[in-house]
Amino acid sequence: MLVLGFETSCDETGVALCTTGGQVLAQALHSQISMHKDYGGVVPELASRDHIRRLVPLMNQVLADSGKSLTDVDAIAVTTGPGLPGALMAGTAFATSLAMGLGKPVIPVHHLEGHLLSPLLSATPPAFPFTALLVSGGHSQLMGVENLGHYALLGETLDDAAGEAFDKTAKMIGLPYPGGPALSKLAEQGNANRFKLPRPMLHSGDYNFSFSGLKTAVLTTAMKLAGVAQPTETMVLNDQDKADLCASFQAAIVEVLVKKSIAATRANGHKRLVVAGGVGANKQLRHSLTEAAAQRGIEVYFPELALCTDNGAMIAFAAAMRLKANPALLSQLDYSMQTKPRCAIPGLQGS
Ligand code: KG4
Ligand code: ZN
Repeated sequence: MLVLGFETSCDETGVALCTTGGQVLAQALHSQISMHKDYGGVVPELASRDHIRRLVPLMNQVLADSGKSLTDVDAIAVTTGPGLPGALMAGTAFATSLAMGLGKPVIPVHHLEGHLLSPLLSATPPAFPFTALLVSGGHSQLMGVENLGHYALLGETLDDAAGEAFDKTAKMIGLPYPGGPALSKLAEQGNANRFKLPRPMLHSGDYNFSFSGLKTAVLTTAMKLAGVAQPTETMVLNDQDKADLCASFQAAIVEVLVKKSIAATRANGHKRLVVAGGVGANKQLRHSLTEAAAQRGIEVYFPELALCTDNGAMIAFAAAMRLKANPALLSQLDYSMQTKPRCAIPGLQGS
């Protein structure tokens, strides 16, 4: 069976066609980064309007690349939450209307479940069960994943998400949006030992995170370096100070993510640790986690780099897995179009 999936929860429009055997036949993506860059972050109204412009051309591209037509599609999948309300609405309204026109079912997909299952799309996918570290712009969670739809929340961030901490810290020192990739690139030229930044909640004895204190510590350090008594919107630092601060910040955040993920994997009695979400693209995190896991006999899995950040393939794939597990979804023709900007993953215990 063929599932055509749509992702529009934030600033990427993604479309993909996936089989219930787990093969992505074609995918297309449009990133809005250049459109939001001048504003230093995502402008929700611009995001929604751009999704509307991109959906049809991207869908046509996917159909052409796969050699399929809409009549070959068995189900339509769409991200219905969490995300920006208008952006979710753009994708959900389009996908639902399309499904209604075709007389096919709509399978709503939780954005984080898409991320969570995306490592299964790699050439060497992890087997269930595994522990998952989900680190994106909006979420930082550790989860026990027993099987499709059987997830246990072990811990999560009490304030900023890891990606959000990267983005806010980057903005503070004048790096362009999105901050994560820019900050980690600059960190490659910096000295990670120069500034002693806190490792928040490292010894809290649980699997929760907190990153806002780390951000404040960067601000205080940046103010000292810039010689200012009051924070300004962007701290003006010289290139070496900036690179050293980026490297020190990245080292702090990565150390916390690595230690807590390894501890959670061991406490679960799992042999596999899976990383998902945009921050999973971070080179230092990949390197440190791979090293720490190997020392403890844990196998670590990352999604392909292109599938770390938002994309349509993970949404089509998550729906394809649900459809394979439950073919009765084919006859559930519900076109009520419910977006949920804030919601827990279906099947999540402990949230
Ligand atoms: O998963 P994602 O595309 O969107 C959400 O669902 O939030 O994640 C985007 C987040 C942004 O905060 C971005 O700065 C961060 O992932 N990110 C990175 C890197 N690439 C993307 N953070 C650190 N290092 C990276 N290389
Ligand atoms: Zn995402």
